[in-house]
Amino acid sequence: MDSLAAVNWTAYEEDALAAIGSALSDAELEEARVKVVGRKSELAQALRGVRDRESGMLLNGIRTRLEEAIDARAQELARLAREQSAERGIDVTIPGTPVRRGRLHLITQIRREIEDIFLGMGYEVWDGAEVATVWENFDALTQPQNHPSRSPFETFYVDDDTVLRTHTSPDQIRAMLSRTPPIYMVSPGRCYRRDTPDATHSPIFLQVECLAVDRGITLADLQGTVLQFFRALFGREREVRMRTSHFPFTEPSVEFDVTCFICSGTGCPTCKQSGWIEMGGAGWVDPDVFRNVELDPAEWQGFAFGFGIERIAMLRHGIPDLRMFWENDLRVLGQF
Ligand code: PHE
Repeated sequence: MDSLAAVNWTAYEEDALAAIGSALSDAELEEARVKVVGRKSELAQALRGVRDRESGMLLNGIRTRLEEAIDARAQELARLAREQSAERGIDVTIPGTPVRRGRLHLITQIRREIEDIFLGMGYEVWDGAEVATVWENFDALTQPQNHPSRSPFETFYVDDDTVLRTHTSPDQIRAMLSRTPPIYMVSPGRCYRRDTPDATHSPIFLQVECLAVDRGITLADLQGTVLQFFRALFGREREVRMRTSHFPFTEPSVEFDVTCFICSGTGCPTCKQSGWIEMGGAGWVDPDVFRNVELDPAEWQGFAFGFGIERIAMLRHGIPDLRMFWENDLRVLGQF
């Protein structure tokens, strides 16, 4: 892989550790952090381009070690500063004016975490478009002409041929039209439906789409990928199950459930006594969808899934009402 080959990662890690270790102030440490693991660093860029599991593991390993070194150096600097001020006899007992630090919104944090999990599995993160053509959002995905979701009572139309996407699945179409397989992509982002807000619905919500297109993929790959994803998000003790379902653009179609975060599977009001919480739809890319983007279904196979990001955040933190993400009450957001 180009980005891996272009950099000597052993030297990168050694140099980075040296830079972290020689930072003499918080500002210098921050400078080193931005340079070696920041979003624009060579490492982060290489991670974004990773396409195979081994490279993902190698680079994620480097990132974890560097982040640990940065934390250790920050603590060391704090200790040195305390010692120095004690020597100089500065009175630190008078309280200053506390500066309230901002933080990323919980949904942004979860979205980035999801991106990291998939980068580590060798996927490309795709930034889809929130405005889609009717063809991308429905037709190419073989949505029947008379399907109720096409109605202007369900979907926001920009004009006769353009909608605010109702799911992230049109990104499957865009990805297959602009890339030559094999394709391994995830696309997180906002979706729009004419739903009345309640505890589990919002007219604006986020989904994450995943699409894998390659030769010789099986349903076991889908199950393994989802299991790995959920375990990384929710911990190893969560069970994942696959149920048959129906979507026009996948055949067979399944839905995934995760054991309930409140009762751990014994049954409670939150999971309607079932012990399971629904996470979203998935399936085997329908041959007609491949034909619509001029790929030969005899040559290529693939799986796709689409999960709700707010739902993931609710499960992860036991948040009972999705509207809390939009109210922006700092007493709520400040807890994460
Ligand atoms: N797009 C579907 C939805 O919004 C979910 C899905 C994605 C199902 C990919 C199958 C494959 O409900």
